[in-house]
Amino acid sequence: MIVNHAELVVSAVKPEQYPKGSLPEIALVGRSNVGKSSLINRMINRKRLAHTSSTPGKTQTLNFYLINRAFYFVDLPGYGYAKVSKQTKAQWGHMIEHYLRKREELTCALLLVDVRHKPTRDDVNMFDWLDYYTIPTVVVATKSDKLSKGKRLQQVKAIQRELGVRPEDIVAFSSATGEGKEPLWRAITSYVSN
Ligand code: GTP
Ligand code: MG
Repeated sequence: MIVNHAELVVSAVKPEQYPKGSLPEIALVGRSNVGKSSLINRMINRKRLAHTSSTPGKTQTLNFYLINRAFYFVDLPGYGYAKVSKQTKAQWGHMIEHYLRKREELTCALLLVDVRHKPTRDDVNMFDWLDYYTIPTVVVATKSDKLSKGKRLQQVKAIQRELGVRPEDIVAFSSATGEGKEPLWRAITSYVSN
């Protein structure tokens, strides 16, 4: 995929603010700090369009990035971050759940998990939840640069087994090196054309 245009159209906290029109949307889902915003930047070759941080809890709104004027990446707040208040957690949870359940333009979710770890309970719950609501999901095992090649393969297989995902629906990815970028574009291409 050649990306020649990318812009942040809106940072939304309620449905009325979601973009109008009916372009397909790919949502980035996963725990805080797993690399959702970094993945968007790498996929579109922009270093800083989506804001990233080494401190979890950076993305706090639903950020709609219009790509090639053809589809959106929707960057969501992460889950599982202990330091945000109960009230904020509930607000984010509500915002994310509402978007994922009701948004007709949503054609695919990317569920990001850290390649170094077994999926957390939250990851498993999220995967099952997406499955229950029949949202097509591609699992992305992030930060693959942090493991040796052999260990990486082993971990991807373990995550695949743990979640019960088909081999073609999981991609090892690194925002640092760009590994997995083309396979991920291939995995989502059918979801971004209308
Ligand atoms: P929230 O917005 O808080 O939910 O986090 P996020 O999932 O958007 O994570 P973000 O992209 O902000 O990345 C978190 C941290 O991980 C940053 O310090 C990134 O530089 C780092 N990071 C993200 N992806 C990778 C990767 O593939 N490899 C390495 N080595 N670091 C990464
Ligand atoms: Mg983020």
